[in-house]
Amino acid sequence: MQALILTGGLGTRLRPFTLDTPKPLLPVANRPFLLHQFDLLRRHGIRKVTLATAYRPETFRRMFAGGARVGLDLRYAREKTPLGTGGAVRNAVGTPAGTLLVLNGDVLHDLDLRAFLARHRNAHAEASIALTRVQDPTLYGLVDTDGSGRIRRFLEKPSQDEITCDTINAGAYLFEPSALDLIPAGVPYSLERGLFPRLLQEGRRMHGFLLDGYWTDIGTVDKYLQVNLDALSGASPLALPKAGQRGALLLEKGARLGKGVTHEEGGRTLLGAGCKIGEGVRFLGSVCVGAHSRIGRGALLRDCVILEGATVGEGARLERCIIGRGSRVGADCTVGPGTALGAGSSVSDFSRL
Ligand code: GTP
Repeated sequence: MQALILTGGLGTRLRPFTLDTPKPLLPVANRPFLLHQFDLLRRHGIRKVTLATAYRPETFRRMFAGGARVGLDLRYAREKTPLGTGGAVRNAVGTPAGTLLVLNGDVLHDLDLRAFLARHRNAHAEASIALTRVQDPTLYGLVDTDGSGRIRRFLEKPSQDEITCDTINAGAYLFEPSALDLIPAGVPYSLERGLFPRLLQEGRRMHGFLLDGYWTDIGTVDKYLQVNLDALSGASPLALPKAGQRGALLLEKGARLGKGVTHEEGGRTLLGAGCKIGEGVRFLGSVCVGAHSRIGRGALLRDCVILEGATVGEGARLERCIIGRGSRVGADCTVGPGTALGAGSSVSDFSRL
């Protein structure tokens, strides 16, 4: 089976981090997020993968080339301007010869692709959508199925009294060529708002497949932080990079620790290649420090992400924030929950954010 990963979105909700890096390439636990999708596909024996690119397309090719290093046979399709999720599929594969697996490039899960395909085939579906349950259905577009799993209707952000289910589109699909034929060529078109309602309207068979376990997308700053924390606390299926272990401190190649560095309060701290941690630094909860970053003496970091090449000054206190690539946070700064510092930012000593 062929697979296609949608990687061309602008990622506007995850700015400033997506200003220079497409969302699927942002690091999670110090590895480009897309490697997780690659792991999933490889585990299920899928080798031929197309990336549907539009935003900063050259960054994907530069990172993965033909795919040899990630154990895949990669090809790239490119949209001059983003064609939306449906237009991107059409542009990348036209009408494929057989069943096509499509994954969003910004979701993390451990979908059993074999079971997904078996259910799709048994149901003689033209399209299948992986589903996941959510706590608060009013915030999402819901996908309602009948007892056999056949999709009955789509409900966009319903009010309390309209809610009949708690399942949403999890961003993984199977399509037969007959379904993809409905996508118009060369114009922006959405799977979610265009193709799916049309298939339903025409009475074509569409099935939902409920996935078990962890699911999240990384589409907002809060979710991007949380997916990093979950990787380190072990709450998610994301594989961590190879690292030496000293208690809850995970040290990638060449990471250096000063005296008296501690980790407290559960979770783990991942220290990227070549980073330098000053004396007496305290890590609390789950912390991810990118390669070649520096953390000054006596700093305290709780549940946060420091991206590659950033510097945190002595005595700074950081909590539930993300510090962008190559940024500098001065000495004795306090950086609080929700702060998202874009790449190359500079914050002077004693600042409070
Ligand atoms: P926002 O701008 O924050 O909504 O993010 P986004 O542009 O990534 O959109 P969204 O989160 O809805 O996208 C879901 C998945 O589809 C992501 O993996 C995107 O990269 C991908 N995607 C969205 N729009 C396009 C597009 O026009 N072309 C391609 N190739 N992929 C897209």
